[in-house]
Amino acid sequence: MNLYPGCSLVAKALALGARDRRFKSAHPEMKKIVLTGIKPTGTLHIGNYFGAITQAISLAQDYDARYFIADYHALNIMKDPKVLSAAIRGVAAGWLAAGLDPEKIIFYRQSSIPETFELTTMLMAFTAKGLMNRAHAYKASVQENIEKNVDPDAGVNMGLFTYPVLMAADILLFDSDLVPVGKDQAQHIEMAQDIAQAVNFCYQQEVLHIPQPFFRDDAAVVPGLDGRKMSKSYNNTIPIFAPEQDLRKLIMRMPTNSQTVDEPKDPDSSSIYQLYRLCATAGEQQTLATRYRAGGMGWGAAKEELFMALNRTLSPLRNTFNDLIKDPEYLDRILSDGAERARPIAAATVARFRKAAGID
Ligand code: ADP
Ligand code: TRP
Repeated sequence: MNLYPGCSLVAKALALGARDRRFKSAHPEMKKIVLTGIKPTGTLHIGNYFGAITQAISLAQDYDARYFIADYHALNIMKDPKVLSAAIRGVAAGWLAAGLDPEKIIFYRQSSIPETFELTTMLMAFTAKGLMNRAHAYKASVQENIEKNVDPDAGVNMGLFTYPVLMAADILLFDSDLVPVGKDQAQHIEMAQDIAQAVNFCYQQEVLHIPQPFFRDDAAVVPGLDGRKMSKSYNNTIPIFAPEQDLRKLIMRMPTNSQTVDEPKDPDSSSIYQLYRLCATAGEQQTLATRYRAGGMGWGAAKEELFMALNRTLSPLRNTFNDLIKDPEYLDRILSDGAERARPIAAATVARFRKAAGID
């Protein structure tokens, strides 16, 4: 029975899936699959850029990369349509400006892959409610409510509660080998593994490929303007595409200690220097570290060095971003081309699962 009337996608997908798997087993040297999702919940900042985007782009040189915009994950918290749609295009333009090559990397919106939601429903049947009760994000919301003395489930929607199942579907749909994420996402990857194992165990076959997390180096935690981890939630970010004058203002406003110009300073405990390390050459880093230690350099001068190096790194990206964001049709086309390439792969996984489950 054709479950997708009028659509040759499944036939194409099954052929492609079978060919892929046969081909892969005969060619163990074949590239592994790397996949990650980015939630469009705000403006991209340099923590995202140095901590996630640059690494993901370089991983794509060695793996078959599938990167997507997790817009349905964002919907849990973003209800203003204008803000959400601008954030989706902002993230798309941001990744392209940062060097994502849409010819090489399959780049798409989660919401353009309906198979994601079909797989989510199927995975629900294999996900213990207790597993979701233990999810960190849900537990944190409940805890916050308890502390505020309100209903423990106040403001908790089912999207938040089942967040890890949707994320498992994103990952499992594409036979992902590696999922680059920050350490905060470790539990979600473990849950995806657990759910996939439950499916495979039930049907006694590898219906779903078990993914592995790829944790970015913790040393790559980018400090924010106030010295804490840079994060939208702390309101301490440097947006990647901030206009030059704004970038300068943000840097000049960074709080510093009360050491005088003459006093020697410690580069390793200075967020200005930590940020400088991300965008300066090895030689420049050494020179600035020496100036810190020698004394005679005030915080203003260190900030000036940081501004120059960061602006040098970011200005080509900013120019590309400003061009791309003016062309929403182009951005939409890139994402829908990506979805077209992604869907047959996703459909193959869903078809495999349906067959194993007796719902084909
Ligand atoms: P935010 O904390 O601002 O909400 P997200 O959670 O949207 O950022 O992060 C998107 C990606 O960028 C994640 O993979 C995360 O690990 C990475 N990232 C975010 N902030 C930083 C940071 N300060 N240093 C390193 N990586 C970061
Ligand atoms: N939960 C991830 C985050 O907050 C975003 C995400 C959604 C994701 N689906 C994914 C990451 C699949 C990796 C793989 O950063």
